[in-house]
Amino acid sequence: MDAFSLKNKTILITGASSGIGRSCSVECSKSGANLILVGRNQEELMKTVSLLNPETKVEVIAADITHAEHLESLIAEKVSILGKISGFIHCAGIEKTLPLKKHNPQLYHDIFEINVIAGFEIAKILSLKKYKEEASSFVFISSVAGMVGEAGKAAYSASKGAVIAGARSLAMELSRSNIRVNSISPAMVNTPILERMFDDIGEEASSEIIKKHPLGIGEPKDVANASIFLLSDAARWVTGTNLVIDGGYSAQ
Ligand SMILES: NC(=O)c1ccc[n+]([C@@H]2O[C@H](COP(=O)([O-])OP(=O)(O)OC[C@H]3O[C@@H](n4cnc5c(N)ncnc54)[C@H](OP(=O)(O)O)[C@@H]3O)[C@@H](O)[C@H]2O)c1
Repeated sequence: MDAFSLKNKTILITGASSGIGRSCSVECSKSGANLILVGRNQEELMKTVSLLNPETKVEVIAADITHAEHLESLIAEKVSILGKISGFIHCAGIEKTLPLKKHNPQLYHDIFEINVIAGFEIAKILSLKKYKEEASSFVFISSVAGMVGEAGKAAYSASKGAVIAGARSLAMELSRSNIRVNSISPAMVNTPILERMFDDIGEEASSEIIKKHPLGIGEPKDVANASIFLLSDAARWVTGTNLVIDGGYSAQ
């Protein structure tokens, strides 16, 4: 059997209605996984479903995962349909580029709520025996902003640094449950989040950022392929690491 295959694995993906999460959904489906897709926008989630391999068994959860009171029962319902879960990608997230004087406690709160807390709360649910396969793999999408400084990103960078650090500690705690935990840190990837950021910072600053990528801006599939590796048995000895997928951005 191909070690990179996701056949017979059920993967839960947050942020599946757009950008990197949509691409992860499509690529995981091509690799043979069955999927539970999570996002708020039902219409966009169904658009993702329409892009999947027709043989993929798929369930959709349309919910705001920062208000997760019913999340466990929604996940339990999907597990009863598709079987236990052997992989999780936390791709849902928001980004804000603002000068420090425009940062306030609410901004930090909003960013941490989705980028960090929602992902770790879902990991808590998916680490329970009743929902997890014998072995499992969790992947958190962080950012190079969690590793290197970028102006205007105090709150966002802090959240992404927290994702990398928290994932490392989860890896230590969950190894005894046969769960591997890793993060991925992409630099700029061509998605709606990037378009919004470029609108915020203007054309000149945007082209400066593009120039800092030796291999140019990435595509969602570049991140999806790295996720497939971490979810697959090919990464059976990989845990507690942060995989940098950045076209050379942080090598300078
Ligand atoms: N694009 C980049 O350049 C880049 C670089 C480094 C890291 N990243 C990280 O990669 C991840 C995905 O980014 P992207 O570029 O694909 O962004 P995107 O296209 O804007 O997608 C963000 C996703 O997050 C979901 N989401 C946001 N808030 C949510 C909530 N409260 N509940 C449920 N879902 C929620 C959105 O779904 P709904 O709207 O349907 O709720 C959407 O599917 C983010 O964590 C981002 O920080 C992106």
